Amino acid sequence: MKKVRKAVFPVAGLGTRFLPATKTVPKEMLTVVDRPVIQYVVDEARAAGIEHFIFVTGRNKGNIEDYFDLQFELNETLERRGKTAQLDILRSMQPAAGTTSFTRQQEPLGLGHAVWCARDLVGDEPFALLLPDMIMHSEKGCMSGMVDLYNDTGSNVIAVAECDPAETHKYGIVGAGEQVGDGFEITSMVEKPKPADAPSNLYINGRYILQPDIFDLLATQERGAGNEIQLTDAMLRLGDSQKLYGYRYSGETYDCGSPEGFVEANLAFALHRKDLRPQIEAIVKRLAG
Ligand code: UTP
Repeated sequence: MKKVRKAVFPVAGLGTRFLPATKTVPKEMLTVVDRPVIQYVVDEARAAGIEHFIFVTGRNKGNIEDYFDLQFELNETLERRGKTAQLDILRSMQPAAGTTSFTRQQEPLGLGHAVWCARDLVGDEPFALLLPDMIMHSEKGCMSGMVDLYNDTGSNVIAVAECDPAETHKYGIVGAGEQVGDGFEITSMVEKPKPADAPSNLYINGRYILQPDIFDLLATQERGAGNEIQLTDAMLRLGDSQKLYGYRYSGETYDCGSPEGFVEANLAFALHRKDLRPQIEAIVKRLAG
């Protein structure tokens, strides 16, 4: 069984819900507390043992590549000024030389198409896929739990979390079959079902471990909802020949793709920080009071 060594981060979307900010700032570079959203997702992947980070970018996303580069002059200046705490943070986050790759989607034809653009960089091995819109908070990262389930099953793993049963129409929902270790067999997958038609309240929360066979399916995948090439449609076809397992994530998931989710994530992550919690609690109380 091949180890999961590489992770793909699709960051080529237009981020229309964050206009006008996203005219010039990629939504993945918007900051939650003091670091860009993409940093949280890369940290989660690294904690799960990922060794190579592949970004599928697009026009106006060049500063994502700059962000993960070593800022030599900045580090020198911090060192000279004795700002060792800040320098240590930068160093601890710095990807090693040769462990990042960037490719461009060229046209935002959908998530499925963005993933397909990474095919040559991934090659013939299973890979992790993390949507930077979603950031998570828990002691053990979501992707770490998924890698454990992958090591038990050797197949495809899709993370899910529970949503309000009245809100299934907002998400991709899976049906849960037999329990397998910490996970379960996925029996069905439906995009945005009405509550009455939903097989469960378990929604796909933006983390996947997929076998490379998905690339051939994506290559022939016809456009689906929103006239985009949908990953879910290709995963359904993958399910015809391979097992799909669900990993039930019990930590917190924040959807930073919408302004309200983004503000919630900022508050939640600030409250999780011991150094900030008292001030933030006081601010929230004052503003809401
Ligand atoms: P979303 O549909 O949530 O992102 O895609 P979006 O299109 O950027 O946002 P809105 O709806 O216009 O506000 C989920 C993830 O897939 C990536 C996005 O960057 C995001 O991380 N994506 C989506 C691509 O990389 N390419 C695409 O063609 C579409």
